[in-house]
Formats: sequence, structure tokens, C-alpha cells
Amino acid sequence: MKSIPICSFVVAAVMCAAGGQSSQRVERPAPPARIGAETREQFAERMRWFVDARFGMFIHFGLYSLPAWHEWIKTRRVVPEEAYQRYFDNFNPDLFDAREWVRKAKSAGMRYIVLTAKHHEGFCLWDTKFTDYKITNTPFGRDLVRELVDVCHQEGMRIGFYYSLLDWHHPDFTVDSIHPLRPKGEVCWGGVGSNDKGYEEINSGRDMRRYVQYMKDQIAELLTNYGRIDLLWYDFSYPDRGKCWTSWDSVGLLELTRKLQPWIIVNDRLDLSDVEGGWDFVTVEQKKADSWPIRNGRRAVWETCQTFSGSWGYARDENSWKSPEDLVELLFETVSKGGNLILNVGPTGRGDFDWRANDRLEAMSRWMRFNGRSIYGCTRAPEDIKPPDGTMLTWNDSSSRLYVAIVKYPDDGELECQFSDRVLYAQLLHDASEVKVDNGKMILPKDKPKQSLVVVEASIRR
Ligand code: GLC
Repeated sequence: MKSIPICSFVVAAVMCAAGGQSSQRVERPAPPARIGAETREQFAERMRWFVDARFGMFIHFGLYSLPAWHEWIKTRRVVPEEAYQRYFDNFNPDLFDAREWVRKAKSAGMRYIVLTAKHHEGFCLWDTKFTDYKITNTPFGRDLVRELVDVCHQEGMRIGFYYSLLDWHHPDFTVDSIHPLRPKGEVCWGGVGSNDKGYEEINSGRDMRRYVQYMKDQIAELLTNYGRIDLLWYDFSYPDRGKCWTSWDSVGLLELTRKLQPWIIVNDRLDLSDVEGGWDFVTVEQKKADSWPIRNGRRAVWETCQTFSGSWGYARDENSWKSPEDLVELLFETVSKGGNLILNVGPTGRGDFDWRANDRLEAMSRWMRFNGRSIYGCTRAPEDIKPPDGTMLTWNDSSSRLYVAIVKYPDDGELECQFSDRVLYAQLLHDASEVKVDNGKMILPKDKPKQSLVVVEASIRR
């Protein structure tokens, strides 16, 4: 969930400054206007690999992979710590093979991977010094982050970490209305939380400053001990439920992140969205953007994060899986609006991808092998090129190539094409067979070629 616009500033101020459990009225300090002094040119250079990559793999893996229902199971089903411990005691992804994970991502055309190093449950997938709640203390016994990062570095796959700002295991993370220890009867995401719901009592002895230091120590570990890390995906601030940038010293976290790996790119969930330099890319979650997101009057670098099905963590019985056609169209449409798509895989408790994820990844692989040129290094088409009805466009500015995805394949194989006078040559991208484009018409094969999405590549006179 993204940080939702503050519905009640003062209430948010009260909840936020005190970490979600106070009722005295305090002013919420405004964030700094700017962090760092990067020029737009330096920013564009630092973001270049990400914008060119266009397509990544999210991997949600943790103890929640064992109950196999949803990564929020601990709070949504209010699972007591002692009951949740059985997942820790039985965590042994014996089929985990970092090389297989990377091979499947690469084959599907994904050019970066983001792994949940620590999700809201607080369980750490690396050999951290700062807690015993870590993968090396489970029957699995190995540092999964180390193995995955090493293979990514060997295979030239960009690698990033998802790091949860929330921690439902840490004794100093203050209880709020989305915490598993919220007062009985408090609905998850319920009210803003307040004294009369007993938060004061639950939180006595909890100190968010100790928790913030814990997070900084862990970020320092992840960004010091594992070589080059390309991306940090912090998740997530919720100002109207009491936790915002002051709750976790977002400025300090971001400054530490950039100090340790100056090239790293960071998402927009530290609640610093109105701070110049407070984020690098906008995260649109589980939905298609209507248009290219605008921030501070400019087109933002953005990424939509989506699941194959309805859950980020492995959900055995969840069957709302997107079809290969849906997924390919989602990827093309995202790039047609200048964005990236990161598709999520939730490995099973054995550490492998289940057959449905493998099936979709193989379908993406088949399509990307022939049509990847319409994705990598592409963006929104120039304003003066109007897409034919039932199509979407992407554009590669360095090659002056226009890509026309035929979403609604015409029965007669003909499309009205207003830009036909600017087409120097056109072909079907998957087999390089010529496509005639002239006199305002694009002539396609009568029978739709066997592609999840048919794409025409056209050389355009500038
Ligand atoms: C939301 C979900 C979280 C998931 C994230 C991925 O924050 O609550 O479980 O990891 O989206 O974008």
C-alpha cells in the first residue's frame, strides 16, 4: 500500500510525530525542501540503466511463503508470535538455487531483480548481526541474499533490495492499527489509533529511536557487505495512520543509503515525495497508470509493480492469475506511457517457482525473444504520431524506430495509418516479414500471426 494522502493533517501530525500512539498535539515538522545537490543531467545519467531496462522481477520470499496465503497473514489473521514461530522453525527452501532464479528472470527478458531482504514480518534473508530472526538460524542455514547477489553479479543482472520500514517482530517497532498486536477489536487499517484503544499501554517500553537505529545498522550491512547494489525499494510510509517520514528518520535513511552506494536508485515510499532528491522513481502499485505520472510539473521516472496473481507472497490457493497475453500487453502498455514494469514471483516454501509462475515466465520469454526491441530503450511515442485504432505505440529515439502493437487485430488485416507518409520501411517484428504501409493504410497478414501480441516495427523519417 502506498502512503495515502494525509486525510487529516493535524491528526496525522499527532500520530506521525509520536510513532502512532500519542494523543498530545505536536506540529509535524515539514521535510527539507531538498536532499543532495544532484543536477537533472546527473540524475538522468544515474537513472539511465533503469529506464532502458524497462522490465524487472520482484521476488517476495519469507516465512509467509509457508502458510502460502498472503505476505500480510501475520496481521490480517492476527497470528500470535508464538504461533508464527513454527514457520521459522520449519523454514527450509531446499530447492532454492540462485542460478535458477536468475536464469528464469533473464530468460523472461527481465533486466533487474528486487528481492524482499526483509518484509513486514521482520524475518531477514541475510546473515545480519543485528537480530537472531534471520535465515541463517533456520534449518536452511544459508545466507540467501549472498547467494542471489553473487549470481546476479556474475550474470550481469542488476540487483536491488526491498526493505520493509515496518517490522512486526521487532520489540521497539511501535504498535499501530496495522500491527498484529493492535488492540483486540481494532480492524486492520482501522481507525487512526488512539489512547482510548490502549496503544499507550502496548507501546510503553517500545522506542522507535532504537528501531530506527536497527534499520540503519541493517541498511549499512546490506549496502556494505554485498558489493554493488543497484536499487533500494523501501516500503512503506502511512502518514494518515501515524507513521511518516519523521517516524523512521527517512532523511537519515536516504542519506545513509546514498552515502554507501551513491549510484543506487530509491523508490518513493519514504514519505519524501515532495522533497527534491527525496526519491528517484514513482511506484504505481497493482494497476495501470492512466498516463505518464507527473511530479513537480515534470514527467517522472516510474515503475508499476504487479503480481501474476492476487498476492505478493506465494498463495497456493489463489487463482486470479493473469494470462500471458495480459502480461505482455501490460508490459507494452507500461512502456508506451514511459514506465517500467516489475512483475512479482512468490517462490514456494521449497524455494522454487511454482508451475504457474514458470508458465508465465516462459510465455514472456517466448515473446521477448522476438519482440524485446519494442521494450528495451523505448518510451512513449512522439506526440505527433497518432496510433491507429486498436493499437499502442512505443518509440526508440536513438534508432528512430516506432513499434505498433496490434491490440485489436483487424479482421481484414488493414489499419488506417495517419503517419504512413513518414514510414520508410515496416516489418513484423517477430519474423522481419515486410509490412506494406502507404496511402494511409497498414496492410497486415489476413491471419493473425501466432504471437501473444503482434508488433510492427517501422523506420520513421524524422
Ligand atoms: C504493498 C504490500 C506489500 C508488498 C508491496 C509491494 O506495500 O502491502 O506486502 O510487499 O506492496 O509493492
